[in-house]
Amino acid sequence: MSKKLLLKNAHIEGIRYFETYRKHGGYEAAEKALKMTTDAVLEEVKTSGLRGRGGAGFPTGMKWSFLAKPEGVPRHLVVNADESEPGTFKDRYLMEFLPHLLIEGMLISSFVLGSNVSYIYIRGEYSWIPDILEEAIEEAKAAGFLGKNILGTGFDCEIYVQRGAGAYICGEETALLESLEGKRGNPRLKPPFPAIKGLWERPTVVNNVETIAAVVPIIDITGAEYAKIGVGRSTGTKLISACGNINKPGVYEIDMTITVEEFIYSDEYCGGIPHGKKLKACIPGGSSVPIVPANLLLKTINGEPRYMNYESLADGGFATGTMMGSGGFIVLDEDQCVVNHTMTLARFYNHESCGQCTPCREGTGWMYKILKKIEKGEGKMADIDLLWDIQRKIEGNTICPLGDAAAWPVAAAIRHFRDEFEWHVNNPELSQTQNYGLANY
Ligand code: NAI
Repeated sequence: MSKKLLLKNAHIEGIRYFETYRKHGGYEAAEKALKMTTDAVLEEVKTSGLRGRGGAGFPTGMKWSFLAKPEGVPRHLVVNADESEPGTFKDRYLMEFLPHLLIEGMLISSFVLGSNVSYIYIRGEYSWIPDILEEAIEEAKAAGFLGKNILGTGFDCEIYVQRGAGAYICGEETALLESLEGKRGNPRLKPPFPAIKGLWERPTVVNNVETIAAVVPIIDITGAEYAKIGVGRSTGTKLISACGNINKPGVYEIDMTITVEEFIYSDEYCGGIPHGKKLKACIPGGSSVPIVPANLLLKTINGEPRYMNYESLADGGFATGTMMGSGGFIVLDEDQCVVNHTMTLARFYNHESCGQCTPCREGTGWMYKILKKIEKGEGKMADIDLLWDIQRKIEGNTICPLGDAAAWPVAAAIRHFRDEFEWHVNNPELSQTQNYGLANY
């Protein structure tokens, strides 16, 4: 059974409220951290090996140590709660059921970073959650854990919640900062990274909700103990939101030592595939990461079991591997059609492209149109190669990773499931009424 750090108290009735959270050890990590020096807390986070849980897996302690500290310029912590990646809903769970875990994590992180004004930027569609967060902020303030001179340390911290307006691109950190400044959410060129020039050109750390929540158990049990959980550079626990063709969709906390097979089939997690159907493929890290067919998902290219961690999921590189990403685990059974699935994602990326870069603005539209044509049985074999060519021209040629996110699912689908694309081309009439999965398994 995986160790629980973030969700260990999630089942307790009323844990959303300060009194209950506090009764179960809440804000003890903050009390401990605020008695330490900021360097010592930073060292704990570095020692823990915590990596950013939003998708990129960048070492958190290293990011914090990159924060510029020019004299007299305010610094900010911004929590990225714009969780819009299809298949990803773990931050929603954390904010809805454990808002104080996030607030406590923000207090500790703001203390280390020297942020007196910190923000939570939350996706507009999570319309009911800002109220929960704002109530938690008010409760924390009333108890002296936010506001002026927190716990008599002289450290001041305010937290504000800002709602997005429903654009996926605002989950990209620089687009988020633009939006937070009240502008259209167009990504900025990096470098400079936000750590140098972020919100209102001030040094800013942007971290995912889960990353900041994880700071609480790190301080609680120490960075060294946190680093003992998991394996290699995949330390600590990770939240996975599991969905698709599984018996038990939901949010699970895993310790990154379990195999993909165990995660899908064990009753502790996904509980297997409904009606005893066969596993076809899986997208383990949110819709942007490459789809992996069952044979490569359960084993690596070396024949080793594939584990639910950063390194093992990426084993073999993009040709055979994928990414841990944001932990949005989407399972496809044998009845699903990869062409149809890829088309749905292409429509999403086309709709969400900000339009700033030509390869993404034009290319995502072309990919969607060609995929739609193939899916409807109106495509030619040359369209498959054209699709391949377009995704190659998008990847790496845009300001932000939305272009890559749109290209990778198409590339991986063609690489691993070319037969399904060819089936649609060769069976135009059947394609109108059937999908590849239902017709061929
Ligand atoms: P990134 O790798 O460019 O940066 C990660 C973080 O580290 C950022 O906060 C960045 O500012 C910081 N950073 C990197 N190098 C730095 C430096 N030299 N100095 C200071 N700070 C530095 O990735 P980004 O753009 O934040 O995220 C995109 C990644 O997330 C892609 O690899 C994508 O595949 C992955 N991803 C995201 C998902 C999502 O929807 N959240 C899902 C799946 C994957």
